[in-house]
Amino acid sequence: MSAASPTLPAEWYFDPARYNRERSRIFATEWLWYTSVGEVAAPGSYVAQCYAGWPLMVMRGTDGVLRGFHNVCRHRAGPLVDDGSGHCTNLVCQYHGWAYSVDGRLRSARDFGEALDPDEYALRAIRVTEWRGQVFVNLDLGAASLEEDLRDFFAEMDAFPLEGMTLVRSLRHDLACNWKTYADNYLEGYHIPLLHPELNRQFDAKRYRVELGDRYCRHTAPSRDGSPADGRWLFRWPNLAMNIYGDSMNVEVIVPTGPESCVVSYSHFFADPDAADVGGVIALADTVLEQDRRMVESVQRNLAAGTYDAGLLSPRHENGVRQFQDLVRAAEQK
Ligand code: FES
Ligand SMILES: [Fe+2]
Repeated sequence: MSAASPTLPAEWYFDPARYNRERSRIFATEWLWYTSVGEVAAPGSYVAQCYAGWPLMVMRGTDGVLRGFHNVCRHRAGPLVDDGSGHCTNLVCQYHGWAYSVDGRLRSARDFGEALDPDEYALRAIRVTEWRGQVFVNLDLGAASLEEDLRDFFAEMDAFPLEGMTLVRSLRHDLACNWKTYADNYLEGYHIPLLHPELNRQFDAKRYRVELGDRYCRHTAPSRDGSPADGRWLFRWPNLAMNIYGDSMNVEVIVPTGPESCVVSYSHFFADPDAADVGGVIALADTVLEQDRRMVESVQRNLAAGTYDAGLLSPRHENGVRQFQDLVRAAEQK
């Protein structure tokens, strides 16, 4: 077992300059979970959201092709669509009415007084790839393919029938903490006996294990009644957790919204949306989120208070946190 290692410096959790570097070095270069395919199934349907300060939209064109763009007009940076999900068959900027084709090329610059090249003034594109019912984006047009980059992480889910699961509920939780404060918390089970009495009754936290893979980790904990755990909780750098059980899944994504704020979005999928335990599974996830919220928001306040510079990570319990923080440090060297 390796020795205890130092945490990231406290300043990395609130410094605006650091946040801006992470926006470009992490969130503009990595594959990011964006939405589920069902949300953008119909021609004209879109999902728009500001992702680590990047205003993005993913839209199913009237030609059936899924594409992604920066939600920023090439005229004077107006928005094409509002954040959220909706339906749009005509991509027209809300500010002065420039219109774009489904492929992002400029179709008309309303009453502009001069002809413009449709390609030169096309919407800035982002990469979009569908995988087993989920939609991922990458702002880096030269990045390796999703399947190549996430190969080992995806292989962990080979045995689970993800396509047969239905999205039952999605919810966004606003948290007053840096995205890494929440990720650090997700990545260890050390806190479970103190923060999560309901989880602690179900699982044997003493035997909670985190195993590391290529930029991902797998969490397992045997259930207390001795039955073999039939699920796995997977976290893929930088901000995606897929918590998979035999017949349900919770996709949990940490979206930065500022140096000291983030949104944690939950999407609950069930093999049988009418199963008796659906409400209970969702309620437990909400309870655990609120228990974590109380702690991570307090930790955020304390990190920024000026009394703590850096701490220590347990070699036994916090190897997942260490892997994550090493990847944060490596991104800083890019
Ligand atoms: S900013 Fe889009 S038309 Fe002017
Ligand atoms: Fe927790």
